[in-house]
Amino acid sequence: MQIEQNISLKTYNTFGLDVKARYFVSVSNVDELKSVLALKEYPEKLILGGGSNMLLTKDLNKLVIHINLKGIEIISENDDFVTVKANAGENWHEFVIWCMNHDFGGIENLSLIPGNVGTAPIQNIGAYGIELKDNFISCEGLSLKTFEIRTFSKSECQFGYRDSIFKRHEKDKFIITSVTFKFTKRNHKLNINYGTISSELKSLNIVNPTIQDISKAVISIRESKLPNPKIIGNSGSFFKNPVISKLEFEMLLQNFPDAPSYSVSEDEIKIPAGWLIEKAGFKGKRFGEYGVHKNQALVLVNYGQAKGSDILKLSKLIQKTVLRLFNISIEAEVNIL
Ligand code: EPU
Repeated sequence: MQIEQNISLKTYNTFGLDVKARYFVSVSNVDELKSVLALKEYPEKLILGGGSNMLLTKDLNKLVIHINLKGIEIISENDDFVTVKANAGENWHEFVIWCMNHDFGGIENLSLIPGNVGTAPIQNIGAYGIELKDNFISCEGLSLKTFEIRTFSKSECQFGYRDSIFKRHEKDKFIITSVTFKFTKRNHKLNINYGTISSELKSLNIVNPTIQDISKAVISIRESKLPNPKIIGNSGSFFKNPVISKLEFEMLLQNFPDAPSYSVSEDEIKIPAGWLIEKAGFKGKRFGEYGVHKNQALVLVNYGQAKGSDILKLSKLIQKTVLRLFNISIEAEVNIL
């Protein structure tokens, strides 16, 4: 473990932004993490996981701690179920593939989501009808105050849409060090109801899909709609889909009868932010080195040399325009630093 100076974070954030960390250290076990956190000479610290949900707008004059805790372990199993613990620094998609190779069912719909295992619970990652919480048992977090490990049960995490206690009451108070999941070993419960999955399976001529087929279908859908961060820098959905009241939705329908929607509860409706942004004319718009992705308006992209502050400016312009046109506020999903 070595503390380095003036390190570019370009390869540590999926937007590919060339921002510098004044100090940088990568930790590969919990003891290293504890000793780094205890260093008094670096009062300001930033925890970096997979770097897939952050927009870095300036150089960081602090100690950046890269969580590189690796390891996947089977905790218990019977004929039907298996409990698996994965350490925080495991790449999420590689973990999904590990599950597919072991025929463990549950997170196949979450294939190809960028980021690491340890950051997945913070925003309860979700896609194609499944959320992290559906297979979640517990997670361990290192308290930044006591340096002790605490186990959080599923109910304690208070999961919601792209939300958990780690974004609210316990924000910046714990570092998640591992996550424990429960998966099926047989009689897998398949989730193919999300429209595009069933049509993708049909186009692949698959009638009785396995979990591996679903994973492949999801990979193929994501590859066709979402830019690969290794080629075009991005952070997945930049905005959350806004939730509005039924009354507001009825008003929206008067002007935009084709507005798509998902029902959230009796009186709440979720509107795809991608649709609002596309209607506002931003889809595929390029402003030099940055812009809005051509196949999915929810995704802001860095073509190579963009600055985080440029992308932030664009996101604000989009928010302002959407508010003016639809009277709907859209909130960033990524963390802006
Ligand atoms: N739409 C448009 N134009 C666009 C994009 C979307 O009109 O450019 C409309 C279409 O009507 C489409 C609808 O939005 O039918 C929904 O689009 P999509 O199925 O692509 O899903 P989404 O609501 O845009 C959410 C998640 C994604 C996740 C997909 C699939 C959020 C903020 N985003 O996107 O998550 O992969 O559903 O489940 O909830 C991520 O978080 O990084 C992410 C990619």
